[in-house]
Amino acid sequence: MKKKMNILITGGAGYLGMEITKSLLKSGHFVTVFDILNYNNTNLSSFIKNKNFSLLKIDIRNKKKILPFKDKFDAVIHLAGIVGYPSCDANPQLAKSTNIIGSKNISEVFKYKKKIYFNTCTVYGEVKDKYCSETTKVNPKTLYAKTKLKGENYFLKNNSICLRLSTVFGISETMRDDLLIHDFISTVINKKYLEIYQKNFIRNFISVNDIAKLCSFIMKNKNFKNGLYNVGDKRLNFSKEDINKILSKKINYKFIFKEFDKDKEFRDYILDVSKLYSTGFKCNSKFEDNLNFLIKYYSI
Ligand SMILES: NC(=O)c1ccc[n+]([C@@H]2O[C@H](COP(=O)([O-])OP(=O)(O)OC[C@H]3O[C@@H](n4cnc5c(N)ncnc54)[C@H](O)[C@@H]3O)[C@@H](O)[C@H]2O)c1
Repeated sequence: MKKKMNILITGGAGYLGMEITKSLLKSGHFVTVFDILNYNNTNLSSFIKNKNFSLLKIDIRNKKKILPFKDKFDAVIHLAGIVGYPSCDANPQLAKSTNIIGSKNISEVFKYKKKIYFNTCTVYGEVKDKYCSETTKVNPKTLYAKTKLKGENYFLKNNSICLRLSTVFGISETMRDDLLIHDFISTVINKKYLEIYQKNFIRNFISVNDIAKLCSFIMKNKNFKNGLYNVGDKRLNFSKEDINKILSKKINYKFIFKEFDKDKEFRDYILDVSKLYSTGFKCNSKFEDNLNFLIKYYSI
């Protein structure tokens, strides 16, 4: 019989957290979420009736509140944070205390437990080569990437699996409209017009379903070693122009390539995900299906 685990998910009410929670509950695990509910999570109601689910409004910056749970969980998935460079720039103090001190607290209190830290591949910043592996030198450009990297250092020191994610997309119970594919789709549907800068810049993507699947895979797989892993779907490396081509076959809108801005995170590389794939993990979401669901969602 499969072992049921007691799993803590910090930030479990957010975009990734809701889908990860859903998937782990489905596998029969017990899930506790620590989240201060920065979003209006009406969709949490779908979990409330599940006896294996609980939510505590605990702030990860408050170590005293976390300490009593020290021995309660078999594994911890750390997602809570101030996410994206605009949110971090809007409140630098909050970004630092949450992404650095909050991460330090979680990594230290749960030092001897299995831990997964969610980082972003934007810690690589401006990359000279076409490919970017875990050994590529980090060069974070924004406060978001800098604070996430500091958080990662605490987790690495305290024996953890640290995932450096490409940009996620797809439907979740808590939606984020700022993610690149979501932003493109909602803009072309609502404005029938899209302006694109740095059209040849390559971005890496992964569906939220595959992220949830990866968490279940790690929980099941005792041989998944601590350390750094780039995380992305190797089928999904697209330039912004590629995405525009795909969307313009599905939706009627005008577009223009215009250099009116620059990516503050300097993302323009193919993320080398061979280390992740060597564990036996494979992404299998259907890109076409996920796009169609997003078009349906943003058309409402
Ligand atoms: N979505 C992506 O494309 C992506 C890519 C790379 C990395 N990540 C990382 O994955 C993690 C989750 O991302 P997401 O897209 O789900 O973000 P999100 O903003 O949707 O979720 C973050 C959650 O953390 C909670 N939170 C914030 N401050 C808190 C605090 N002090 N105490 C407790 N909870 C707090 C929020 O209420 C929210 O529910 C983040 O750490 C992010 O850096 C996400």
